[in-house]
Amino acid sequence: MSLKPSELKKDFPVFKEHPDLVYLDNAATAQKPLQVINAVEKFYREQNSNIGRGLYDLAEEATLKYREARKTVSEFVNANTDEIVFVRNSTEALNLVADSLEFEGDIVLSEMAHHSEQLPFRRRAERDHREISYLPTENGKISVEKAEQIIGPETGLVSLSHVSNVFGKENPVRDIVELARQNDAYIVLDGAQSVPSQEVDVKQLDVDFMVFSGHKMLGPTGIGALYGRKQLLEDMNPYQVGGGMIRSVRKEEVRWEEPPKKFEAGTPNIAGAVGLAEAVNYLTDLGMEEVETHEDELAQKIENGLNSLEGVETVTENSKSLVSFTASFAHPHDIAEVLNQENIAVRAGSHCAQPQMEELDISGTVRVSPYIYNTEEDVEKLIESVKKVKEVFS
Ligand code: ALA
Repeated sequence: MSLKPSELKKDFPVFKEHPDLVYLDNAATAQKPLQVINAVEKFYREQNSNIGRGLYDLAEEATLKYREARKTVSEFVNANTDEIVFVRNSTEALNLVADSLEFEGDIVLSEMAHHSEQLPFRRRAERDHREISYLPTENGKISVEKAEQIIGPETGLVSLSHVSNVFGKENPVRDIVELARQNDAYIVLDGAQSVPSQEVDVKQLDVDFMVFSGHKMLGPTGIGALYGRKQLLEDMNPYQVGGGMIRSVRKEEVRWEEPPKKFEAGTPNIAGAVGLAEAVNYLTDLGMEEVETHEDELAQKIENGLNSLEGVETVTENSKSLVSFTASFAHPHDIAEVLNQENIAVRAGSHCAQPQMEELDISGTVRVSPYIYNTEEDVEKLIESVKKVKEVFS
């Protein structure tokens, strides 16, 4: 059954506050349904306590909610419960891996990588004097042929985006995993742009690590997850140390908890985890196949509509879930500003992917990213408004 975006919109209070808003910046962050807002509010009103410490009923209830949230989130990506570490966001998860994983060899990144994926591994390479190579982009995707020339026996770790936040295309993850495996390299997947929009199964993809953020998938900000293969998490040193992640502390010796607790120093974002689990339930009820089909259909309509306008060029074609474009008649920031006057929210700029913009020899793009509550009327309004932008600047 296909999604009914106009009906879904009713779950999102932001559209009651802003009835004319056409929100097309979902790759930056998604809006929150009442179900998520209520779950977070209920936690603070009725269940709030710290976890894993108190012996009273309320503390046990909060601990249980946090544990259940981990189970819900792990099942969503087909991980075992102890393979999901709660973090602030994808950025924190990538910093954790880049900082704590012991490995031999060089690092392979991609040109298209978001700064949050590039910078932690670049810092690690600098720290250890390792070489970095970059997988080039071809028509919005990583080319397997080029990757075969870059990933080799010297490679120790490969990090790639599942779906790029600039191009909205799915990379050939299985082929790259295969190449990494042939060379005994670890593989890290940035799922920030894919997990909200399609079914993602970490076992089937066979990656060592995967990261994603709650706020892009209807959940609260400040909560995200790291999936790590159990054995690897067991072997890694904690990224941060403090309360809640130790088994015992003596002056002579400290013993860490087992993962995932070992990586969650201090009081975690308990309400955030509860909210994220509710977001997962919401998406699961819709069905990820339906979510994916809806987004892809809208992305295609956006792409076709934009490409029919003279002077407008989409950066690539056949995008999934989002579309980036440039126009000969105006700078991306000017386009976004005029669209804002029409009540349309899009993102303009380099999308935290400046090396990719440099490669493309452009200063930035306008990025249009629909989600479950966007309608065909939203797309029509966008296309009509881009026509108006052209009139303003011509
Ligand atoms: N990574 C987010 C984006 O692409 C913030 O907009």
